[in-house]
Amino acid sequence: MKIKSEITVRPARNVRGRVELPGDKSISHRYAMLASIADGPSRLENYSTGADCASTLECMRTLGVAWERKTEGQNVIQVQGRGVALAAPSTALDCGNSGSTMRILSGIVSGQPFTSEMIGDESLSRRPMERVIKPLSTMGAQIDSQEGKPPLRITGGSLKPIDYQMPVASAQVKSCLMFAGLFADGESRIEEPLRTRDHGEVALRAFGVKLERKGAGLGSEVRIRGGQTLHGIEARIPGDISSAAFFLCAAALFPRSQLAIPNLLMNPTRARLLDILMQMGLRISVTQLEEVNGELVGTLQIEGGGLKGTTLSRGDSAALIDEIPVLAAIAPYTEQGIEVRDAKELRVKESDRIKSVATNLRLMGAEVEEREDGLNVPGQQTLHGADLDSYGDHRIAMAFAVAALRAQGETQIRGAESAAISYPEFFEKLEEITQER
Ligand code: S3P
Repeated sequence: MKIKSEITVRPARNVRGRVELPGDKSISHRYAMLASIADGPSRLENYSTGADCASTLECMRTLGVAWERKTEGQNVIQVQGRGVALAAPSTALDCGNSGSTMRILSGIVSGQPFTSEMIGDESLSRRPMERVIKPLSTMGAQIDSQEGKPPLRITGGSLKPIDYQMPVASAQVKSCLMFAGLFADGESRIEEPLRTRDHGEVALRAFGVKLERKGAGLGSEVRIRGGQTLHGIEARIPGDISSAAFFLCAAALFPRSQLAIPNLLMNPTRARLLDILMQMGLRISVTQLEEVNGELVGTLQIEGGGLKGTTLSRGDSAALIDEIPVLAAIAPYTEQGIEVRDAKELRVKESDRIKSVATNLRLMGAEVEEREDGLNVPGQQTLHGADLDSYGDHRIAMAFAVAALRAQGETQIRGAESAAISYPEFFEKLEEITQER
């Protein structure tokens, strides 16, 4: 799907309709990688349609994995697992814009007896990789980088197990190290400072890997033994809750909104947004809750209500890291405003998201306080349409399309095509559910 690079968003009356979301991005990456190193075939239904997850699949092809996409109906990917031995790549592994691809896959190629070069686009080439380089080097991989940034040149082989306390709360790093742990001679232990999304753990179990988990509070630890065999799976990937966030926030803007979202990922490490939006006044009911390959999935009915403010810090900021841009973008329309603290990680995402959000809000006439680790956006503000930029960041493009729905006058979003990184169908769907003023 081709998105125009400049999109105009007009003020709306409310949003109404049914939204079926493409498969979750975090789960799609992990399933594609694990299916590649599993014994036997896997069938992944509702695979993410985003360019990031396509980057992961292309990297797996470069590593000798055969797969095909069947788009009729359900966007199915069929992967022919190779078992743990991948093929030495003859070209670089192009991770595109995808931090998840580079960080998580670096764990797998570190366990392979050959050299891989991992490259990325301009934005990815600016992002910190020492968080995976350091522990993977301790495990025995040889890694060259550009002062901790891509490209990475990784020479792998048999690895030593690691006992590691992660300094940064990052699900990508946790998955990277668990996946590397599969190639280690013994048991690895990975501890995180704050609980992050657990799709790596859940996916490993779905592919037949045994691991131990401890701690359900702030932090947690995982233990995993090397040398286990993975078995291919048949899975339907639940709808991406971080993509749903844009529609949920759009619904929250208008009391008369009504949305139905079937087959949505409800994993407790990802669903904090629902609690926060409910506390702010959105009415959400969940039906048909079920577990699919260890992941919780449900159907949501949403009705617009009031829009109170909130403060996000510590564990909440980590749990909502991908949703903060859109929450901050609708913050001026709330009663008490939204304050975000302990979210320094936002500065090293696809763009510096604290700066991108603050700049665009100010262009719309909002008052915003930008801090090193967050933002404070007062409520009860009136915004006007403006000429905005996505800064090449998919979540910024979509967040400000939502903010524009309640502004006065039209908003232009340049670089709107970046939405295709996670959700190519976003603007079409937004238009379909928007009732114009
Ligand atoms: C992701 C983890 C988060 C998130 C990213 C996807 C994942 O990043 O921001 O979009 O799939 O594990 P960190 O691992 O840096 O927290």
